[in-house]
Amino acid sequence: MSVMQNILETVAHFVSDKQKDPLLDQEVYLGQSVVRVDGADKVRGEARFTSEFKLDNMSYAVPVYSTIAKGKIRKIDAASAQQAPGVLAVITFENIMRMKAPPIVDFHNIGKGFALSDLPIMQNAEVHWDGEPVAIVVADTPERAEDAASLVSVEYDAETPDVSFEGMKPKAIVPSDIMGEPPELEIGAVKNAMSEAEVSIRNVYRAARYNHNAIEPHATIAAWDEQGGLLVYDSTQSVNLTAHTLSYIFDLKVQDIRVVAPFVGGGFGGKIGWSNTPLCVAAAHAVNRPVKLALSRKGVFRMVGGRTISEQEVALGARKDGKLTALIHTGLTATTTSGRYAEQCTFPPRHLYASPNLFVGQKIVYLDTVANTWMRAPGESIGTFALESAMDELAHELKMDPIELRRINEPEKDPTKDIEFSSRHLTEAYRRGAEKFGWQRRNPEPRSQRDGKWLVGQGVATAYYPFMRFPAKVRIQICADGSAIVQTPGSEMGMGLATTQIQHAADRLGLPLDRVNFQYGDSSLPDTPMLAGGSNQTATIIAAVRAAVEELHRELLTLAQERADSPLKSAKYEDLEARNGGLFWAGDTDRGETYAAILQKGGQPSAEAETSSGPPMETMKHSMASYGAQFCEVRVNEESGELRVPRWLGSFDCGTVVNPKTAASQFRGGIIMGIGMALTEETLFDERRGRIMNPSLAEYHVPVNLDVPYIEIIYNGIPDDQAPLGARGIGELGITGAAAAIANAVFNATGKRVRDLPITLDKLL
Ligand code: MOS
Repeated sequence: MSVMQNILETVAHFVSDKQKDPLLDQEVYLGQSVVRVDGADKVRGEARFTSEFKLDNMSYAVPVYSTIAKGKIRKIDAASAQQAPGVLAVITFENIMRMKAPPIVDFHNIGKGFALSDLPIMQNAEVHWDGEPVAIVVADTPERAEDAASLVSVEYDAETPDVSFEGMKPKAIVPSDIMGEPPELEIGAVKNAMSEAEVSIRNVYRAARYNHNAIEPHATIAAWDEQGGLLVYDSTQSVNLTAHTLSYIFDLKVQDIRVVAPFVGGGFGGKIGWSNTPLCVAAAHAVNRPVKLALSRKGVFRMVGGRTISEQEVALGARKDGKLTALIHTGLTATTTSGRYAEQCTFPPRHLYASPNLFVGQKIVYLDTVANTWMRAPGESIGTFALESAMDELAHELKMDPIELRRINEPEKDPTKDIEFSSRHLTEAYRRGAEKFGWQRRNPEPRSQRDGKWLVGQGVATAYYPFMRFPAKVRIQICADGSAIVQTPGSEMGMGLATTQIQHAADRLGLPLDRVNFQYGDSSLPDTPMLAGGSNQTATIIAAVRAAVEELHRELLTLAQERADSPLKSAKYEDLEARNGGLFWAGDTDRGETYAAILQKGGQPSAEAETSSGPPMETMKHSMASYGAQFCEVRVNEESGELRVPRWLGSFDCGTVVNPKTAASQFRGGIIMGIGMALTEETLFDERRGRIMNPSLAEYHVPVNLDVPYIEIIYNGIPDDQAPLGARGIGELGITGAAAAIANAVFNATGKRVRDLPITLDKLL
């Protein structure tokens, strides 16, 4: 049973969103490149991130990390740390407050909060990974805490950890499910079809471990009040889910916890559910004053998981005309016994191509490492690397243009679910992208384009990311002056949350932008399981705002109709439009009333609606995803292997684009992260002892400006009838297909097929 089916069964009612949204025809701000409402504050340093909040009497916590991957703490010598200047407490498993082991991610019950591992947090002597916090030192300044932390000495009884991915392969198992979907799926008779295929390829694709490196390292400030209430500033992708997780761990009422995060410096899947937050809360309890725990870059590598190492095999069989007859995509990823997250690398082949015979299957191995987690398009980013490299290899075998190969294998309905696509115009994205990129000028012959010592090549690959939406609640208030306040606990991690939601609410309410106040990032706002993840947030809030505005408009209409003299007296809700700050008869500019007039004449100071959008029925009835075509050019130095990416064009099919400026920024960010995944990033892991060897930006290389070309972004702009406002997700789409586009361009440039990421220069010599 799928996640969505489960959600549906647990939700009793839903709001139908089937009719075409009338707003699509009358928008004013939607679709405009409105400048970020918080852009100036961010540039001036006035937008406050977690670490920047100041509380009176603040103290500072620094973790001590284990240096073994498995075993028991025999002895912790904290005496010299305790005596160091300014030290308030050294917290270990021996004196930390009791905390319940956190709830593991459960998509059937996401509203209760979650962590990425259900291990107890510093509650006993056991050590489960190299980097697990074994002590927290709290002092009156960050420097003194850092210094004292270095004085804590820990003795261990070490055991042999399972840390070798290769070594654990014989113990690989099929997980019970993958994000609620079956781990294995077979259609037709794939083995026969493979052996009878006129043309076939079969290869193994590997990707490195990757770590989260958001510009803002994880940070928390926690303060308990005298009544046992808790205030937490936290760099989180969900303030209210974090509140629920803390309520579970500390056995508090969720109403007694307030989690605040007005700005988050990037999340990418890595900023929710890690132990830094509860440890800060426990530290504040121990010293009975506010505590800030701001992880160092190294601390993020130690305590926060990243993208699993992976190995995938793809076999494709086709007729000579290019029609696929067999598709096999299997994958092996690593996880932990406490996290159990099987990264969904075989999701793309379930939805991308028409093949009468198909098998997908995933296995996992358990390693003694920090739990792995989501990282921008988890599954789809590495999954499309394998599948889209394989499609390019097949195109080469067939001597067929790779775009043509994809076009002729475009499915008419979802290949593995018996449902129609809500809106899929991938072929159109390829057509527009090819034209703009100049794909026709490419020579398909490998190693045929040269510029001095530089071998030049171009590659394409498909981008794919599923559509997600959560049921959510918003509260909207119309004030006496006719302006609006929209409240929901979303997270701004750099995507432009407030900007796009103000655009939408302004159009929906018929107000100018500056008359809409959007409040978010605070768990004291309506409690609803909102998560800036899965590229869902824009659509999720839009659906809830639409429902709330409808309720509010009906309320205001009723109020107006209490007066005999109201120009709305005989109107039905359907007759009206929201514009000029009020409700007006559709097509009649002057006949209507402003919100301010309705409230004032009705003797009400304000009007308010708190409304929930329904569960995502649309995703049950339709196969819904965003798509795209990634085009890139590479130059490879024949002598040194140096690789450059001078040109990129992303052509996307993501439905309505609410704000072209913030959307392009999301796409570019995704593609840049894809360039990092393909070329520069790699977590170096010592398989003898299970320790990450490069926990810093000096040795873990994220792409810098010189690694990134100008990235051109285009999109179809075809609204999806099933998505709120026609808009599907964009935050994660950009990274998908990016690594394959580069690998395919490298093959075109050099004739070398690199099947293990990252593509470093040694692999090109
Ligand atoms: Mo995203 S990896 O769902 O934050």
